[in-house]
Amino acid sequence: MDTLKIVLAPDPFLREQCEPCEIGDPTLKPLANKMTNTMYANHGCGLAAPQVGVKKRIIVVDCDDPENNPNPIVLVNPEIIALDGSPVKEEEGCLSCPGISVPVTRQPFARVRYYDLDGNECTIEGEDLLGRCLQHEIDHLNGKTLFESCNALDRIRAIHEYKQALARGAKPGEVE
Ligand code: NI
Repeated sequence: MDTLKIVLAPDPFLREQCEPCEIGDPTLKPLANKMTNTMYANHGCGLAAPQVGVKKRIIVVDCDDPENNPNPIVLVNPEIIALDGSPVKEEEGCLSCPGISVPVTRQPFARVRYYDLDGNECTIEGEDLLGRCLQHEIDHLNGKTLFESCNALDRIRAIHEYKQALARGAKPGEVE
């Protein structure tokens, strides 16, 4: 299976703004396939292109039951058009920050407009895990990792824990 290497924080590449994809670009399908394989191989429920070293606005998510019933959704040029609900603080992991989880406060509901790989305009609505995952992956496209998404106090602890995780050789998909 064709997988890609995951870029780990604090690589400055993860802090860059990604560029819009050209709708109908034929290279997007093979890229999306490799991203999907990479996400599953590392037991993630979402992956953004910059995490595999590509500065393009494309993400893949699968929050249902990826191990038993894979149903990947590829979102090209995704854009949050609505967020709703009282903010909830919950631990998030990230394949680019192996070995740690970080509490991030987000609204539980997200509505996202995007293009599919055939260039059709689509909308997806997600609540709870999917709502959170969509927001997390779109953050990556804007150069935000977990360390930028949490509050200042949690960031100090997260950076400390992350240094320890890297020192003991934590791999993507591992959450302490
Ligand atoms: Ni992530």
